[in-house]
Amino acid sequence: MTVELTQQGDLAVLTLNRPKALNALSFAILKEIGEAIDRVADMDVRALLITGAGDKAFCAGADIKELRNRSLVDQKRGAELGQAVFAKLDRLQVASIALVNGYAFGGGSELALACTFRLASPNAIFGLPEIKLGLIPGYGGTQRLPRLVGEGRALEIIMTGRNVRAEEAAQIGLVNAVVEGDLMEAGTAFAAKFTRYSLPVLELARRAVQRASDMPLHEGLEMEADLSTLAYRTNDAEEGMAAFEEKREAQFKDG
Ligand code: CAA
Repeated sequence: MTVELTQQGDLAVLTLNRPKALNALSFAILKEIGEAIDRVADMDVRALLITGAGDKAFCAGADIKELRNRSLVDQKRGAELGQAVFAKLDRLQVASIALVNGYAFGGGSELALACTFRLASPNAIFGLPEIKLGLIPGYGGTQRLPRLVGEGRALEIIMTGRNVRAEEAAQIGLVNAVVEGDLMEAGTAFAAKFTRYSLPVLELARRAVQRASDMPLHEGLEMEADLSTLAYRTNDAEEGMAAFEEKREAQFKDG
C-alpha cells in the first residue's frame, strides 16, 4: 500500500508513502486515499492528520506521467475522482489537519486545501503550478483557494503558478501556522486544542462555516440558527452549561 493509515492515540494518521516520486498522486493512490478516508469514518478517533513520507514533499501533485495521451472523457473522470476523494474530507465526522513538510504542489496543495486545517514546516512550499504545464487545477484548487485567501490572491497564485513559501502562506491565511520542530508533534498538540470538545458539536460548527461561502448571508444565517439550535438538543450542551454554572470542567460524552 502506498497510503498508510494508522491510529496514534485518538488520532488517525494518513501517510502518503511514495517519497521517491515526492508522493505524487497516481490515480491508484487517489483511490487508496479515498478508501483510507472511508476507513477513518469507522475508527474511534477524534481527528485525522495527513502527512507525506520523506523530508522533501507533502505531495508534488497529480502524477504528471499518467496525465498524457488520455481521452477528454478520461481526463474529466480523473478530475472528478480527485474532487470526490478530497470532498470526502468535508463529510468526515472528524476534522482533518494537513501537515505540510516540503512541497505541496498542484493536487498536493489541493489535498491540503481540502483539509479542515493546515500546518506547515518552515521549508513548506505551496503552489498551483498547473499553468506551467498548460493546465489549470482540477482537484478543487480554483474553488477552495479563493475561499481561503480571496479571489485576487488566488487568481494571482493560479495564473502565475508561483511558489508560496510557508511564511507568506501563514500571512495570507493559506496555513493556520508555521511550526518549527516535529510536525507530527505539532499536529497532535494542535488537534488537542479542540478534540476534547463534543464531536457532534464540533461537526455542527464545521458544517456551518463550510456552508457559509455557498449561500447568501440571509440563508446562511437561517442555516446557522438551525444548526445552533441542533447543538442545544445534545446532552453535551446540557453538560457544558451545567458545568459552567457549577464551576467545574465539562465532561463531554459526544452525544
Ligand atoms: N508527477 C510525477 N512524478 C513527479 C512529480 C509529479 N507531479 N513531481 C515529482 N515527480 C518525480 C520526478 O519525476 C522525479 O522522479 P525521477 O527521479 O524518476 O526522475 C522525482 O519525483 C523527484 O523529483 P525532482 O527530481 O523533480 O525533484 P526536484 O527537487 O528537482 O524538484 C519539484 C521538486 C520542484 C517539486 C519538481 O519535482 C516538480 O516541479 N514537480 C512537479 C510539480 C507539479 O507540476 N505539480 C502539479 C501536477 S499537475 C496537477 O496536480 C493537476 C491537478 O490539479 C490535480
